[in-house]
Amino acid sequence: MTERTLVLIKPDAVARGYVGEILGRIERKGLTISALDLRTAPTDVAATHYAEHEGRPFYPSLLEFITSGPLVAAVLEGPRAIAAFRQLAGGTDPVEKALPGTIRGDFGLEAQHNLVHGSDSVESAEREIGLWFPHLASR
Ligand code: CMP
Repeated sequence: MTERTLVLIKPDAVARGYVGEILGRIERKGLTISALDLRTAPTDVAATHYAEHEGRPFYPSLLEFITSGPLVAAVLEGPRAIAAFRQLAGGTDPVEKALPGTIRGDFGLEAQHNLVHGSDSVESAEREIGLWFPHLASR
């Protein structure tokens, strides 16, 4: 079944010059990039995006990091797009969880600076797509 997912190529990945590498992996996997935008996230958008993590010790620094510079927001489409992108990304912690061959496993060292975000469910994807790309919100 075709799904949509919201992906962020985070400020660490943009600053390190990995946008092309990450988009290449997405394209080679066969996912369709249906929206793509470089922008610096306003704090309110970042706070809404990560609302479920409010209260965690890393939440303030996560907001500071995600708003610290340009990121790439994208909508991907394809069969099982949510799981397919999370497979490409690897686990949240680039060392403890992500395997070599994944984006985080190949390029990351820290849980926070983990290069990419991908929606974790259909509900999250629709909420996040509506937040980052309001004109693509599901009705
Ligand atoms: P993401 O998949 O975007 O979802 C929540 C983010 O919080 C996660 O990627 C990391 O960037 C960050 N994060 C999760 N766990 C930790 C942690 N233990 N320490 C710092 N940042 C974290």
